[in-house]
Amino acid sequence: MVVRDTDIMHPKPQTRREFLAQTGASAAVLVAGGLCSGANAFPAGPTMLEARPGTAQLLETANTKTAIWGYGGGVPGPVLRIKRGGELWVRLQNRLSQPTTIHWHGIRIDNAMDGVAGLTQAPVPPGETFDYRFTAPDAGTFWYHPHNRTWEQMARGLYGVLIVEETNAPDVDQDIVMVVDDWRLGENGAIHEASFGSIGERAHAGRLGNILTINGNPAGQFNVRAGERVRLRLINTCNARILKLRFEELKPQVLALDGQPVAPYSLENAIATLGPAQRMDLLIDMTGHPGALQAITEVSQSRLVAARFHYNARDALPARTGTVRLAGNGLAEPDMTSARKVDLVMSGGAMGQANKIAHRGKTYSIRELVREHGLVWAFNGVAGMPKKPLFKARRGETIAVRMVNETRWPHAMHFHGHHFREAHRHAPWLDTILMEADETRTVYLVADNPGKWMLHCHMLEHQAGGMATWFEVEA
Ligand code: C2O
Ligand code: CU
Repeated sequence: MVVRDTDIMHPKPQTRREFLAQTGASAAVLVAGGLCSGANAFPAGPTMLEARPGTAQLLETANTKTAIWGYGGGVPGPVLRIKRGGELWVRLQNRLSQPTTIHWHGIRIDNAMDGVAGLTQAPVPPGETFDYRFTAPDAGTFWYHPHNRTWEQMARGLYGVLIVEETNAPDVDQDIVMVVDDWRLGENGAIHEASFGSIGERAHAGRLGNILTINGNPAGQFNVRAGERVRLRLINTCNARILKLRFEELKPQVLALDGQPVAPYSLENAIATLGPAQRMDLLIDMTGHPGALQAITEVSQSRLVAARFHYNARDALPARTGTVRLAGNGLAEPDMTSARKVDLVMSGGAMGQANKIAHRGKTYSIRELVREHGLVWAFNGVAGMPKKPLFKARRGETIAVRMVNETRWPHAMHFHGHHFREAHRHAPWLDTILMEADETRTVYLVADNPGKWMLHCHMLEHQAGGMATWFEVEA
């Protein structure tokens, strides 16, 4: 596997001009990474990954740096790359003031390596280490983040990208990683800490930032050449924001969702919608002219230019024809006719009906639950991790989870250790599905990965506010 030093380096104070020069350079580094083959390039032994405080230039104002927590002290952490079927071996060194873990989001991983504090491992205390060592069965775009006080640790900047390369790499000119995050900063540029854990954030849409960054920078600039074919890997690392990214003047095609290939299709209105934790791999033919600038605009709230493609002056390459198809990862097809049905009813939150909610064997009104435990959401009438799993599956059994959103809010429901899909014929494989208010959706998964797996809302304040449960797959 490959970790590039440039990815781990700490950003220095910089002027706007230096910033632009540097983002161009870092895009080039990502390209180089995309083309080199990672496996076997480095000697055996773990890659050190330090979770520690650092600083980042999140604001455009020169010299206003933000104290963050990051892997390697930077945000995002290093881009880790392995080949499909290859092994990742990372030694987490905790240099934070809190216990932490690493969860490898979307990887159909060995349960002991899933990184869920309190379910699959004890959290790693400050000063200690933990080795994560596993193979990655699926090629695609994945990411990693803590799974202990996730709402705080991720909001402070702890996350990074894990790319599992296809055995046969698709024919593209550039492979660009675009990590999109929003941050809630105070006027001094510091992370707004007073709001951590607030019931207001928990009961509504979650923590929505006032600053948007691309790969940890206040603006993203990606250097391209006219006629190039780009693979763009989008990753939503926001605590709670549903991103809507519009590609001005371009016609992106979707190649994969949540790491799993799809039959390529065009993005409707050139807008990529990504719930928290979701990924989207796009194929973009760069049809602008030499010297052009094309914006990627975030339109979920107001219109904000998030990033730009900057075309260099070189002559256009001949236009590409046809598309790229990524080979599927061969996930087991659910047996929809004999699937065992499980209901998951989501309730609570602001403007929800104030039903009785159970927590640790006691029953509360929502008002009491908020006051006594800071909890405000429930699955099947239970707030927080229940003692018993939502279901216990025989290995290989197909489970149909019917999710009923009885709340006034959207949710990004994430299953660990498995991908799932809906019943309609072209439904994609996902690990995180966006549910609208009042929506009901049924997802099917083949419970073929033994262990105890979490299932929760990836709007991290909702998770912390009670939207968490688990299921078990027998060995
Ligand atoms: Cu991305 Cu339970 O996590
Ligand atoms: Cu939610």
